[in-house]
Amino acid sequence: MKHLLSTQDLSRRDALDILDTAEEMARVGQREVKKLPALRGRTVVNLFFEDSTRTRISFEAAAKRLSADVINFSAKGSSVSKGESLKDTAQTLAAIGADAVVIRHWASGAPQRLANTDWIDAKILNAGDGTHEHPTQALLDAFTMRRHWAKLAGTDSAGTDLSGMRVAIAGDVLHSRVARSNVWLLRTLGARVTLVAPPTLLPVGVESWPCEVSYDLDATLEAGVDSMMMLRVQKERMHDSFFPSAREYSRRWGFDDARLDALDRHGLKDTIIMHPGPMNRGLEISSAAADSPRSTVLDQVSNGVSVRMAALYLLLAGGRDVEDHSTEAVTEGIPA
Ligand code: NCD
Repeated sequence: MKHLLSTQDLSRRDALDILDTAEEMARVGQREVKKLPALRGRTVVNLFFEDSTRTRISFEAAAKRLSADVINFSAKGSSVSKGESLKDTAQTLAAIGADAVVIRHWASGAPQRLANTDWIDAKILNAGDGTHEHPTQALLDAFTMRRHWAKLAGTDSAGTDLSGMRVAIAGDVLHSRVARSNVWLLRTLGARVTLVAPPTLLPVGVESWPCEVSYDLDATLEAGVDSMMMLRVQKERMHDSFFPSAREYSRRWGFDDARLDALDRHGLKDTIIMHPGPMNRGLEISSAAADSPRSTVLDQVSNGVSVRMAALYLLLAGGRDVEDHSTEAVTEGIPA
């Protein structure tokens, strides 16, 4: 794996490697000293052209836990607002000696562009590009589901995939890179995916995606789901009116209190409710659902750090055993 640009081109083997390595990273996160020296002396740049809370701090925490030097670059307040091109920014980062660039960009395809030119010779990790992909979000979602089901089965999640699991992804699919990355990855890992949205919020060509499509959230719940993933209504990308009103949207497409009760009524006692954040409470998800014991929203955030550690580790230090580094961590600094 040279870069991490999308889940569409991720093989099952690569995906499982990342998830299994993330399990090892999660164990590091439970120690008193949550740090490995694996990326000591390496520089990771977080290059963010769009706002972000979770993804940026998660990548920062991940790189720091691996002892990398981290440079946070946000387009606001930088020379980008003076009109600097992506090429000049990339060449500047190359001159600084960046080993990996984590890029979030409003333009679909920007990470691919960085990876395919000779502007910079660094590992590129896509942290969300336009409405295209958000691979580490899908990986942390898959990691969260895999852990949940392994726990139910009383087994170890390492090495397992998501065969036979029913995942529904509901909401603003049209503008969602999270939905796209999840559809590809979940399918690669053997899950059955159903997209649920109003027709206006489904992209052209969705019928050729490897998933089912429904316009009826209640019918989807009644048919049975193991994981219900809600998507944010992305108002900042909406330059048109896609549904009559917020009230109408939440009545038909939101995961409200009545639908939370419906899970119990349908006997779906182990179904989890997911959301990548940030949430519009009261619109696509009710507070009772977001804060219920079924909600994995905060687990997704913690798991994000482990998954991003795994991705950075495999790209920058690939091949070495994680535990090799932890031995260094223990002996480091102790005089011989
Ligand atoms: C997602 C994103 O930025 O694409 N959020 C995230 O990374 N946690 C989803 C969203 O913004 O709705």
